[in-house]
Amino acid sequence: MVHAFPLDHTQWDPQAAFLGDRHRLLAPDLPGFGQSPPRQGWRIADVAAGILDIALGEGHEAFGVLGLSMGTYTALELWRQAPERIRCLVLANGRARADSVQERQARGDLIARIEEEGAGILPEMMLSRLLKPQPDPKLAERLSRDIARTPARSITAALEALRERADSTALLSDIRCPTLVIAGEFDPITSTAECRAMASEIPGARFVEIPDAGHLSNLENPTAFNRAIGEFLDSLPG
Ligand code: MLT
Repeated sequence: MVHAFPLDHTQWDPQAAFLGDRHRLLAPDLPGFGQSPPRQGWRIADVAAGILDIALGEGHEAFGVLGLSMGTYTALELWRQAPERIRCLVLANGRARADSVQERQARGDLIARIEEEGAGILPEMMLSRLLKPQPDPKLAERLSRDIARTPARSITAALEALRERADSTALLSDIRCPTLVIAGEFDPITSTAECRAMASEIPGARFVEIPDAGHLSNLENPTAFNRAIGEFLDSLPG
């Protein structure tokens, strides 16, 4: 289970509670988030390679990957690196394409601002894009606190990793494992239309829109999110 930017593994608490009885779960903190120390110069491809090493080291010859946003970029990278290891994919609130020129520029501008002003500016800038309009105030408060605590150098290194990620569009039509694509009804970052279009490129992929949720669909509507992944997992052979 691979978390979004700028969260950590606790993003998956509602899914860990739901899946934990039936599955062995691995929910790493990406470099610089949660309990993982800051690291400069990391890339999405390195993280995918690291996850592969951990999973194989723990004796998992094949496994399913659930990613949300930055986690979806990582899931697609895992497919690129080791398709034979991937049993199924859940690609939530993410996209396959690389950043556009404007998006790369915006990442660079944000890196410069954070280097100057610190990560304290992030919650106010980001929460309205991560959460649905009129979000749950408790969730907004918790995320705001967690994000503000993240070291500035962790944020800037991750923004670089996001900016430098590879384009995975050409991979989509080669995906041969069962795949579920998830969108959030009110997600302004990766719209339902964009997620649905990605699903249509993946042979046999299912598509589910989570109602009453923004970008962080697993946290904003865990009931619907868990139902979607539960039904998907139940549909898999073996
Ligand atoms: C995320 O939620 O992981 C980010 O929105 C990803 C991105 O900025 O591309």
